[in-house]
Amino acid sequence: MKRVAGWIVAGVLFVSPCVAQDAREPAVRTEAQRAFILGQMRLFLQSIQAITVALGKNDLKTVEDEAAARGRKGTPVSAIPPSMKAKETPAWTAMMGGARAGFDDIARVAHEGAPPSELIGMLGETMRNCVACHQSYRLATE
Ligand code: HEC
Repeated sequence: MKRVAGWIVAGVLFVSPCVAQDAREPAVRTEAQRAFILGQMRLFLQSIQAITVALGKNDLKTVEDEAAARGRKGTPVSAIPPSMKAKETPAWTAMMGGARAGFDDIARVAHEGAPPSELIGMLGETMRNCVACHQSYRLATE
């Protein structure tokens, strides 16, 4: 019996971290804001895919265009749902700003004709913002 109990305790200790609650901070947004944010996220992924393929072909024009589209001026202000800014924590703003600024840098350096090895390194550094934010936040609706 004691032995069985021991196994049960061991099992619970082993399994509990796997089913632990999502520790990420909820970023509470309206349904429209959530849809907008996730749409922007899919564009990030889409452009990273296009940039990676273009780097493999040394097609710097595509790298520049795709990176610029994800940069600070890539999204028209009119497309952004109202009152989004007010909900953003400083950490959120910093990571989103870091990602956008990174894409702007990639666009500029691609325009200058940098080697793909340098550009892929910059993309990796830019993506630290993606990883950090995904580890910190999950979306929740109001
Ligand atoms: C400031 C925070 C932040 C940054 C920066 C960020 N993301 Fe996200 N992303 C999120 C959140 C929050 C979600 C929703 C996660 C959840 O609710 O589980 C998300 C979801 C996604 C999704 C899923 C989209 C869907 O339709 O479900 C993709 C893909 C994604 N992000 C890609 C990226 C990429 C690539 C980057 C970097 C270029 C990036 N994200 C940068 C916060 C961020």
